[in-house]
Amino acid sequence: MKKKLIQYTTKNFEKLFQKKPEYIFLSPGRINIIGEHVDYNDGFVLPAAINKYICFAISENENSECVLVAKDLNEAYSFNIKDQLQPVEKMWVNYIIGVLHQLKEKGLPEKGFTIVFSSTIPMGAGLSSSAALECGMAYAMNKMFHLKLSKEEIARIGQKAEHTFAGVNCGIMDQFASVFGKKNKVIKLDCTTLAYEYHKADFKEYQLVLFDSCVKHTHLTSGYNDRRNEVEQGLAIIKANYPEVTSFRNCTEKMVLSLKNTLSEIIFNRCLFVVQEIERVPLAIKALSNGNINQLGELMTKTHYGLSELYEVSCPEMDFLVTEALGEAEVVGARMMGGGFGGCTINVVKKETTDNVIQKLTKAYKIKYNIDLKAYKIKIAKGTSTYGI
Ligand code: GLA
Repeated sequence: MKKKLIQYTTKNFEKLFQKKPEYIFLSPGRINIIGEHVDYNDGFVLPAAINKYICFAISENENSECVLVAKDLNEAYSFNIKDQLQPVEKMWVNYIIGVLHQLKEKGLPEKGFTIVFSSTIPMGAGLSSSAALECGMAYAMNKMFHLKLSKEEIARIGQKAEHTFAGVNCGIMDQFASVFGKKNKVIKLDCTTLAYEYHKADFKEYQLVLFDSCVKHTHLTSGYNDRRNEVEQGLAIIKANYPEVTSFRNCTEKMVLSLKNTLSEIIFNRCLFVVQEIERVPLAIKALSNGNINQLGELMTKTHYGLSELYEVSCPEMDFLVTEALGEAEVVGARMMGGGFGGCTINVVKKETTDNVIQKLTKAYKIKYNIDLKAYKIKIAKGTSTYGI
């Protein structure tokens, strides 16, 4: 699949520009096992890069003109790298120029380039295609123009592009996972310090399966930013009552419960979810390390109910997919994944029954919502990389 994507992107580059690309880069999407909506709340997360990629075919130009071709959308955008770069209407362009805008301050030469990119990461499915695009761009420019950026800087540049050019006040998890991914490893990331450790992604006799609800509710951006504001308000009140608290990291569930009558119901629920989710992550890592996949699955399922009932970032379609999946004896854990309001659920399914479970859910989803469910049996793969040069 990766080879096909590279061939397809290269062929299109050649067809459009009558020359071979000088560089090929790959940037993956990500999953997250557990630790949802805690990257911006000073928690730990457990993501991994997956074998779904954006492929970039690039050549340098003689002048300062840049041409971007989003092959899958059949759209193109041209600009001059000397221009002042500002957000534009097309979101996919913003992810790219949001990165270039920062790189110009970090020594990017005023040299043009031509890019054709194509992707196997479904868009808007909660698999961070935007982070893959941002980090792929930063990585490519870093290699091509010898900018000497560290991997951490590349991830941070991707995140900032999302904040400044896409208007989503995201955490660092997606970009970090896309850049730092390693084959068959999950990343335990401390979102406060960005210290990280790789853990073996051995799910024993289970397989990770993603069910793509194929819905994308419009409050994706606004809902996300609202949650950030709500937890910020909550934390300020917690700190006022417990001066020893510096972040959600050292705030306990007991403290939040003691403020039930002080916090509004919504803010209370949001904060309760955050402290509970932060507590679940180390338990999940331990379960994974011990090969106790049942326990890991149970924790993931608890995360779902927290996200759905307390944090309220799920939607009826994803709730349905989780309930249906958990109705199957061979599924030991299921939850919505990523920012929410649509996208994918992540499921831990007994290997030999995977196809059967996929079939059942596809049928049930079609009957309930008249939507063709997509299922991805993903593999954990390496992060952003250069291909073949
Ligand atoms: C989105 C954001 C991440 C993270 C997740 C929720 O994917 O980009 O930073 O907050 O949602 O865990």
